[in-house]
Amino acid sequence: MRTYLVTGGAGFIGSNYIHYMFKKYDNEIRIINVDALTYAGNLENLKSVEDRENYTFVKADICDREAIEAVFAANDIDRVVHFAAESHVDRSIRNPEVFVRTNVLGTAVMLNCAKAAWELPDGSFKADKKFLHVSTDEVYGSLPEDDEAFFYETTPYAPHSPYAASKASSDMLVRAYMDTYRFPANITNCSNNYGPYQFPEKFIPLMINNALQGKPLPVYGDGKNVRDWLYVEDHAKAIDMVQEQGRLFETYNIGGHNEKQNIEILDIIIETLQGMLPAEDPRKALVSRDLITYVEDRKGHDRRYAIAPDKIKEQIGWYPETMFKEGIKKTIAWFFENEEWMKNATSGDYQKYYTEMYENK
Ligand code: NAD
Ligand code: DAU
Repeated sequence: MRTYLVTGGAGFIGSNYIHYMFKKYDNEIRIINVDALTYAGNLENLKSVEDRENYTFVKADICDREAIEAVFAANDIDRVVHFAAESHVDRSIRNPEVFVRTNVLGTAVMLNCAKAAWELPDGSFKADKKFLHVSTDEVYGSLPEDDEAFFYETTPYAPHSPYAASKASSDMLVRAYMDTYRFPANITNCSNNYGPYQFPEKFIPLMINNALQGKPLPVYGDGKNVRDWLYVEDHAKAIDMVQEQGRLFETYNIGGHNEKQNIEILDIIIETLQGMLPAEDPRKALVSRDLITYVEDRKGHDRRYAIAPDKIKEQIGWYPETMFKEGIKKTIAWFFENEEWMKNATSGDYQKYYTEMYENK
């Protein structure tokens, strides 16, 4: 039975990945989820798997070398899937240091511990051990507003935000391990994800949550920045396919072929909410385009991201399966069914964060 060490599995993409993997492999795999449970980590995301015998949760910080060494010492790990990171660009603009600590130092600790556990005396590695580093398209910087321009695996790195710079640094460390030690790894660089369990600091869940309460919908700048949105389950599938079918030591870009301006996304959200809410639901009267409020732009706001996921399609056969209109309906349906989750996620520190982030905008 293959054993996975998943870092950051209590976060948005990590928890969706764990659900995807158990749905696909059921009892054929074992998953150990290592997560420090920062504000973004939520064990409620994993309620339905927590009693499985082939699932273990370990509360640990990826920067804590001893704790990570202990996980490798106690388990014969076959796969590492490294999600754990500070992930929100706005937070990185306010407080970059924690991004450097977790994203750079934490990745170095993960690489070092995996290398120590998997390395043989002659410097080669035990058979069939693999490390997958989950990264972002933001490392490539910003594209012009030109439908022909895309990010490719060969695009030079040009990160702008402290978040992107920390992820670019972590990618470089993984590359260095592959080049120096022939450490068995892959890097994936993915576009914007959306779907269940996404923390409502990010654009889509924040807008859904605010619209349902009749609160202003804060659009940065002119609202014409473009992102390439991918349904999170498609990302989970891509990660598994890259790890099992990809060529070791290579990078794969993962994207949704779904470029849209932020304001277009917001229009679709509003229209979908209006269509899904029953006539007798009092929230139906609250959801309106009148809530859209243009606010001060994000500092250094990247204009456009777009991935051409040609390599992963040609080599591995992965492509984005969920059309945006279908994915957004599934996402909204999930938020309707999980009101308690949203209530819990937006209680406590979230209110403080929201006030500080948006009060002067
Ligand atoms: P998230 O913020 O929802 O979750 C991050 C998880 O990591 C949380 O559970 C948190 O508790 C944990 N974590 C944070 N610091 C930790 C530490 N020091 N030790 C152990 N655990 C720690 O993030 P996400 O959106 O799920 O992103 C997951 C990964 O995917 C990140 O590496 C991110 O850069 C990458 N990524 C995200 C997107 C996206 O659209 N969200 C797109 C491409 C790539
Ligand atoms: O591209 C992949 C990246 O996508 C990931 O690496 C990051 O972890 C993830 O957070 C995401 O980064 P973005 O900055 O693109 O996502 P965010 O949801 O924060 O913002 C999406 C767009 O919406 C962006 O252009 C900024 C804008 N925005 C965001 C918020 C939170 C607003 O206009 N208003 C808002 O309140």
